[in-house]
Amino acid sequence: MRTLIRHISRLYGILDTNQPFKAGADMAHFPYLENAWLLIEDQKIKDFGVMPKEDVQSPAHDSDRIIDATGKMVLPAFVDSHTHLVFPASREEEFVMKIQGKSYEEIAAAGGGILNSAAKMALTSEKDLYKSALHRVQELIAMGTGALEIKSGYGLDLENELKMLRVIRRLKDISPIPIKATFLGAHTYPQAFKDNHEGYIQQIIEEMLPEIAAEGLADYIDVFCEKGFFSPEETERILEAGYKHGLKGKIHGNQLGLNGGVQAAVKMGAVSVDHLEYTGEAEIEALRGSKTMPVALPNCSFYLRMPYTPGRQIIDAGLPLCLATDYNPGSAPSGDMRFVVSLACIQMKLLPEEAFNAATLNAAYALNMEEELGSISKGKIANLIITKEIPSLNWIPYAFRSEWIDKVIIKGH
Ligand code: NIG
Ligand code: FE
Repeated sequence: MRTLIRHISRLYGILDTNQPFKAGADMAHFPYLENAWLLIEDQKIKDFGVMPKEDVQSPAHDSDRIIDATGKMVLPAFVDSHTHLVFPASREEEFVMKIQGKSYEEIAAAGGGILNSAAKMALTSEKDLYKSALHRVQELIAMGTGALEIKSGYGLDLENELKMLRVIRRLKDISPIPIKATFLGAHTYPQAFKDNHEGYIQQIIEEMLPEIAAEGLADYIDVFCEKGFFSPEETERILEAGYKHGLKGKIHGNQLGLNGGVQAAVKMGAVSVDHLEYTGEAEIEALRGSKTMPVALPNCSFYLRMPYTPGRQIIDAGLPLCLATDYNPGSAPSGDMRFVVSLACIQMKLLPEEAFNAATLNAAYALNMEEELGSISKGKIANLIITKEIPSLNWIPYAFRSEWIDKVIIKGH
């Protein structure tokens, strides 16, 4: 099957090197061709270029399908490297508590938060979980997401963590977009281990990890490294145990304070460290020269009315930055990458080009998929967005919440 998209007003996100991610000043470069064509063959980007003068000479005019994109732009699809989209129920009752003035920590202390979802998780069948999660995946694809990561972490015991991870595996099997699975048993302490943190850590390391690894259910191991949750030392131990089972590391760090999550992630060679609402000079210094991708989750700051990750300072320090949704029922009940890009520009002062690089190439890197996705490059998977007729790239984050996507192309379809 060959599909030709032609007369593209601007083909954005071109990368013709094997560059794994963009950092610093380079993030402001989101290269494009004007009046372009792009050919898809066997689900991949076969070639692209500038439209020749005479349409008859149009490349690959023998394609099975031709899409006319006159006045429209083509971009690489978003990659959402951080979600918790397998969950049993929404939590809008906590939303109202927040409106009434309760903080995230107060709601958690009152039995809300992650433990609220964990209690419902235990009562929800794998079938029902799968059904609701599949629906969410389909919604995200329609919003331009072409690959994503999903975490466990609402099970908090062997049986229910396995249930979540099996749902994620079923989603992987059926989904047209690539999905990566992350084991987040260390999301919080379950009620039964409220006063026995060490006991729960033992359970993660000795019971859960071997089972999960034996079934091949996870690509990554993640820990909520925060005061009152898991310390940097505990985080390192859990990651180390995950590494022994062949998992790669990710960390939830620096969401609620300067708690050493970033330093732990760098020390452990984690693929990414996510949140970073609290980032100072020491964190920026730690990230410098490391291979760990900092990931900002502006949905979460917006929804919780908390500080935004200092993305501007991170980029100005020469570092890379990635953007993701954190889609979950407690701190970010939206998986819309379009809004994340707008928030990054409006609230974090990223340039539109920086925000798109952060949401595509750098996000693919955060999922170890930078060789397959995240840019317009020959041989990469043809997961693309065709826009409506819009005036410019800058207009996309500027006109926030407008419907600017015409078509989402997944593997050429
Ligand atoms: O990434 N911070 C920890 N975990 C999620 C929130 C989970 C929840 O509240 O259900 C997050 O923000
Ligand atoms: Fe999260």
